Amino acid sequence: MSGRSICVVGSINTDTTYTVRQLPSPGETILADTSQVSHGGKGANQAAAAAASGGSVAMVASVGDDENGTGAVHDLEVRGIDVDGIAHTPGAPTGSAVIVVSGDGENTIVVDPGANHALETAWVEQHVGRLDPGVILAQLEIPTTALVAAASAAPSATFVLNPAPMPPDASALEDLLDTVDVLVPNRTELAQLVDLPEPWTADEIDHCASVLGFDGTLVVTLGSDGAVIYAGSSRIGAVPAIDVDAIDTSGAGDAFCGGLAHRLALGEPMEDAVRRATELAGASTTHRGARLPLG
Ligand code: RIB
Repeated sequence: MSGRSICVVGSINTDTTYTVRQLPSPGETILADTSQVSHGGKGANQAAAAAASGGSVAMVASVGDDENGTGAVHDLEVRGIDVDGIAHTPGAPTGSAVIVVSGDGENTIVVDPGANHALETAWVEQHVGRLDPGVILAQLEIPTTALVAAASAAPSATFVLNPAPMPPDASALEDLLDTVDVLVPNRTELAQLVDLPEPWTADEIDHCASVLGFDGTLVVTLGSDGAVIYAGSSRIGAVPAIDVDAIDTSGAGDAFCGGLAHRLALGEPMEDAVRRATELAGASTTHRGARLPLG
């Protein structure tokens, strides 16, 4: 059940995850209960989720010419992902992230982009052009110029953007947003896109969508409140989250985006695709680590 092919243009990181009882306050030092090093990066996690969902997936990215990069690419290869578009860039370390997960499953993440920021536009154009994907799935841990290049190298692809992490100034995304067909922010990113407080009620989310005035499909992920779908500024659907005992929500958004990209590649209607993506995201919170386990 692979459908049209999916090309993920995005980041690859090595994650160090600390499990704590409560997230630390500013200025506070706390001891972790456990720590774990694992493969991560929003791009690679989304590629892994799309492949786990049954998609035919390739990744265009940049890792350092180091052990972390070799291990990260091997993990993607084992998952059946085409890794020919991953550059091994000398002189920059593979991206890394520190994740802190609290007892109630919430998380905070700090990323050092490393080689992700060395991803070259010409490399992206060459590999996206070669792959000619049906769906491009992207995030914001790599330069936005690389993403604009990806969109122009495959103009007929459905371009899905997860705007994470948001840049300090949302206007930096103007050119990129013109190329996006499906925009998938979470509550925090939606607020940052429109420079308003985080929306908590349905009316507040509708208001943010209308201020954004995005000219495509907007899918807002709301964690345990599910997801809502807009065509332009009009709400056209809402999907509840599945009921799970979450132990680690890091990477849930990535599982959602990977699952959504695969369902769109199959040609499923948007609300069905969002429902399946929500199921995959919910299931992803029942294990530790930001990436879906193998198998
Ligand atoms: O979404 C979770 C991911 O964000 C982590 O794997 C980390 O590497 C950062 O990219």
